Amino acid sequence: MIRVGIFGATGYTGVELIRILSKHEKVEIKYLSSQSYNTKAISDVYSSLIGFCDKELEELSLEKAMSECDVIFTALPSGHASKIAREAVKKGVKVIDLGADFRFDDYSVYKEWYGGDYKNYEGIKRVYGLPEVYREKIKEAEVVGNPGCYPTSVILGLMPLLKNGIIEGNVIVDSKSGVSGAGHNPSHNNMYAECNENIKAYNVAKHRHIPEMEQELSKVFGEKVSVVFTPHLAPMTRGILSTMYCKLKKDMDVNTVYNVYTDFYKNEYFVKVLQPGDYPATKNVYGSNFCHIGFEVDKHTNTLIVMSAIDNLVKGASGQAVQNMNIMFGIDENTGLDIVPIYP
Ligand SMILES: NC(=O)c1ccc[n+]([C@@H]2O[C@H](COP(=O)([O-])OP(=O)(O)OC[C@H]3O[C@@H](n4cnc5c(N)ncnc54)[C@H](OP(=O)(O)O)[C@@H]3O)[C@@H](O)[C@H]2O)c1
Repeated sequence: MIRVGIFGATGYTGVELIRILSKHEKVEIKYLSSQSYNTKAISDVYSSLIGFCDKELEELSLEKAMSECDVIFTALPSGHASKIAREAVKKGVKVIDLGADFRFDDYSVYKEWYGGDYKNYEGIKRVYGLPEVYREKIKEAEVVGNPGCYPTSVILGLMPLLKNGIIEGNVIVDSKSGVSGAGHNPSHNNMYAECNENIKAYNVAKHRHIPEMEQELSKVFGEKVSVVFTPHLAPMTRGILSTMYCKLKKDMDVNTVYNVYTDFYKNEYFVKVLQPGDYPATKNVYGSNFCHIGFEVDKHTNTLIVMSAIDNLVKGASGQAVQNMNIMFGIDENTGLDIVPIYP
């Protein structure tokens, strides 16, 4: 069995990890940390887990977690995982960070966008944890920087086009996210009266996920890719729908585009390419690790419009983290993740 610890177990991604891992046949949940609820059972905080995981929450102790676990998930605000991971790898404990600490190839980019006193990754085998790109490196990694939710939807949506040189390297991305994307801490912006029957843009052209998208898309393309990014908060609990506008380099019809996508993702269980004319919806992936991709060609402007839907807490966070764990420990990638989306 893989012995698992979760730091930040009471956050939305922490609880989602527990939901998935409590039914994972190869996992034993050994350690759950919480600063706010320690000594309580996690199922006393979240009744949805009663009977599935009634484990007691403990104060964060890296020493204890390292002595009991083979892998630690850090489901903490960005900035906390760097030090934890450095210590853990010395003891042979693997780390999967759901924050941004290990997502950047150049740590100075992290510093620029996230701030803080951050050290480089020297001596650590780290990888950006997008299995559809880095599966082989993930197998060998000590630390995985689990991708952000928006970047997961955008990179999976654009990768086949950039890899095949079909579009130009400037893309416009318009994304909508459910409110759980902001975590469980209350703030003015995520109060019911602010979100219900409302949709609003935020962090326009300055969201922290821009450099992450540009880093990965540029590597796929082989040249610099620039992303114009407008995220929106949508009145729903979960889900991300990203709509991407790309300039086609030459005329193409939807059937040719469909063949490019289906060929690119033919071996990827969690990416489903929709038939031409069928467009993705967040509800079709709700509660699952799937990414749905659809597209349309606008002949009038020679623009290819790509749409990609994920559940921000699953493929956008905890599901993808479990997918990474499965790869790191050499077990079937779908273990614990073969969940049918909840519909309607
Ligand atoms: N929500 C998403 O859709 C999503 C998607 C992708 C990635 N992420 C990333 O995943 C990470 C967790 O996100 P989340 O949405 O689960 O956030 P969250 O709901 O706010 O949970 C974070 C948890 O970390 C603990 N925590 C907060 N400050 C801490 C500190 N100083 N020291 C130790 N523990 C602390 C808190 O639990 P206690 O108070 O009980 O200790 C809290 O429950 C973030 O880095 C986020 O950017 C989130």
